[in-house]
This record gives sequence, C-alpha cells and structure tokens, in this order.
Amino acid sequence: MIESLIFANASQVVTCAGPARARRGSELGDAGVLADAAVAVEGDRIAAVGRLGDLRARFKSAREIDCRRGVLAPGLVDSHTHGIFGRPRYDEQELRAAGMDYMEIARRGGGIHASVRDLRQRDGDELFALAKPRLERLASFGTTTVEVKSGYGLTLDDELKTLRVIARLQRELPLRIVPTFLGAHEIPLEYRESAARRREYVDLVINEMIPAVASERLAKFADVFCETGVYTVDESRAILSAARNAGLLLKLHADELTSSGGAELAASLGAVSADHLAAISDVGIDALAHGSTVATLLPGTMLFLGKTKHAPARRLIEAGVPVALATDFNPGTSPTPNLPLVLTLGVSQLHLSVAEALLAATVNGAAAVGLADSVGQITEGFSADLALFDVQDVRAVPYWYGDNRCVATFVRGKPCHTSDLGIF
Ligand code: NIG
Ligand code: FE
Repeated sequence: MIESLIFANASQVVTCAGPARARRGSELGDAGVLADAAVAVEGDRIAAVGRLGDLRARFKSAREIDCRRGVLAPGLVDSHTHGIFGRPRYDEQELRAAGMDYMEIARRGGGIHASVRDLRQRDGDELFALAKPRLERLASFGTTTVEVKSGYGLTLDDELKTLRVIARLQRELPLRIVPTFLGAHEIPLEYRESAARRREYVDLVINEMIPAVASERLAKFADVFCETGVYTVDESRAILSAARNAGLLLKLHADELTSSGGAELAASLGAVSADHLAAISDVGIDALAHGSTVATLLPGTMLFLGKTKHAPARRLIEAGVPVALATDFNPGTSPTPNLPLVLTLGVSQLHLSVAEALLAATVNGAAAVGLADSVGQITEGFSADLALFDVQDVRAVPYWYGDNRCVATFVRGKPCHTSDLGIF
C-alpha cells in the first residue's frame, strides 16, 4: 500500500519548479515562491502542488503533515564534499592564522597528506562510524542529497575501502548519497621523489584504480584536483579521459587557487561540473559559457582559508554559466556541514540574490550530480525530497546566518532528519 502525505499549512512553498536541467542567467531569477500552497506526496514521489482543499479532495486517504507556518523547500543538494576522513586538522587552522599558506602546509607534508596518513590507518568500520554522524550533521541543516568523494586513501586498497564505506552509508542512511572517486586528490608523498615516480602514480590511477572502481560500480563520478603543485592539466586530462572511457561521469577541482586552465579542460571534456573556480580566467568563463558544465562554487572554502578572492559568480551568471553552491565539507579547507550558511556566503560574498542562491543549492546542485531530472524541485513526478525550515519567509534562511532553522527533511517521501523540536 503506497502511503500518501499532504504537507499542509506552510507559509511558503518554494518549488524551484522549471526545466529539469541546470538553470542559467535570468532563469535563476525566480525560485517559485508560493503562498497558500500544499504539497501531496504518493510513495516516494511528489504527486501534486496546489490548494490544500483541492489536494484533500483528491488524496482522500492522505496523512496530513502540519508545516506550522514554516517554509517548505526542495531538500538541499550538497554537490561537493569530502565526507570520509579521520581526525580533524585543528593544527593547520592555527598555522594558517599565523601566516602559513595552505599549499605551504601541503609542501611540508600536512594538508591532504596528513589526512591520507590518518585514513590509511583506519579500517572501514571505523571510517563508517566517523562518517555517519558527520553526514547526519549535514542532513540536519536541510541537505537531502550529498555527493561524497574518496581521495584520502591514494592506494588502490585505501581508495576502494573508502568507496565501500560510501556504499555502506548509501545503504544504511536515508540520505541520498552520490559517490565520487578522487584517487587523484594529491600526488602521494611516496610518489613525489621523481617525475618517473609521479608518472607511476598517474598510471596506477588510470590502469588499476579506475578499472577496479568501475567494475565494482563504486562511483558515479571521477574527479581530479587540477592545481599548480598538484595535478597538471595534462595529467588531469589523461585521468579523466580514462575515467570517461570506463563509464564514469566527470568532475574537476579547477582553478581553485591559481588559474591553470582547469575550467577549459572541464568544458572540453564535457565534465558535469567544474568546482571552486576562484581563480578562473576570462577564457575559462567563456569555455564554460559555451558548454554544459555546471560551475560549482564553494565560498566556505575561501572563507575558512582566509582568502578574500572569491569565484566571480556574477560574471559567470552573466556569461550564462549555470552556477551551483556547495559546502566542500572536508577536514582541511571547509569543515562546515551547514549548506544554508553557504547560501549566506553566496549572497554576501558572491553577490547572488536569494533566488539565485536557492536554485544554486537545489536544481543546479542536482544538475551537478546528474540528478536534475528527479531531484531539486517540488514538481509533480520529482522525488519527494523536502526540507522544512522554521521561518516564515525563505529569505530568512540565509539571513539568520550560521543558525539552523531546518526542522525536518524527507527523502523519497520518508523522514530523513527530524529536529529536537518534535514536529514529527
Ligand atoms: O576541495 N582542493 C582540494 N581538496 C579539498 C581540500 C582537501 C583537504 O585539504 O583535505 C578542497 O578544498
Ligand atoms: Fe573539494
């Protein structure tokens, strides 16, 4: 028997309704805010959006959920996280405060290398036990879909171990999880001694890791950290081309700290997303504007690293590039699980309107993980992935910055997160 629900008495329903693909330019201007609307759900799908009386007449046996004048929105989509790691890196935060740069910390064996040393010592059960409450924390802020990358293993076994933890989280949590293979997150220290050794690691990723990940179906996406001092554009192209041939979709950490042609590479390979882009060039903006790649912006990372230079979000939008917002949740550069806080940064630092920020963290986030046809909108036929916020006006979500106003989320029509407020 399929359960029917009616979400009633919301002060606003933010539908984000529109084309089932990434939105660009003026399409980002309207998030579809409805007063006096209710939402009917049948099983795992949204069945209708309309007046409460009409929905009551149509879905007679539905159980009613009282939204208590809150704002009902599509569940948020966090399309970029590194959620599987061991210990936090408190020490680096103070080193940066004292003036040491992120890349300098990495050159001294810290940064990603520190998390790699740590993760290699832990087994899958331990990593699962660490990751589960962290992802539940992300969910508590309104996120219902989260992309999770590997990338702190950097050996065949440790990358597979990480991806199997992600697969177990997918099975055991109500959250919708999208797995990404990031074996090219760093050049491991043991391969940094010579150009030949470096090439050996790239070959290992291409010839052993990607085939193993693809044959076990452990990832939907492959990603590379393309950055001066990490992977070159040529290495990134070789790795992503191999991943594409193995049937994986592509993402790229591009132009985060320096402009190295990452955005151009992502566009030329038809990557689903190019992420970071704080240092994107004019040529890079142009390349994205003429392709289908979503630009995923991560202003929390720049904030936490103490950088003042943000991605040129307005120029990207004005050029017609579809923009998404995500947390980049990770132990080194962005330890926040709070996607609504990233919406605040989208408005205050990237100069987005609230509608643009909301669409960037719903429809365009869904597009960035290849799910724009089923997730990110409150539209008939879409998955019943919903977030309820204890505010009367959706503009209050990015306004009360750092606060958590999410009281409940649903994924596929089933409760995912519920707050202590005891609403459900
Ligand atoms: O997206 N840029 C590369 N990867 C992460 C940082 C990972 C880390 O420092 O542990 C990022 O910022
Ligand atoms: Fe990242």
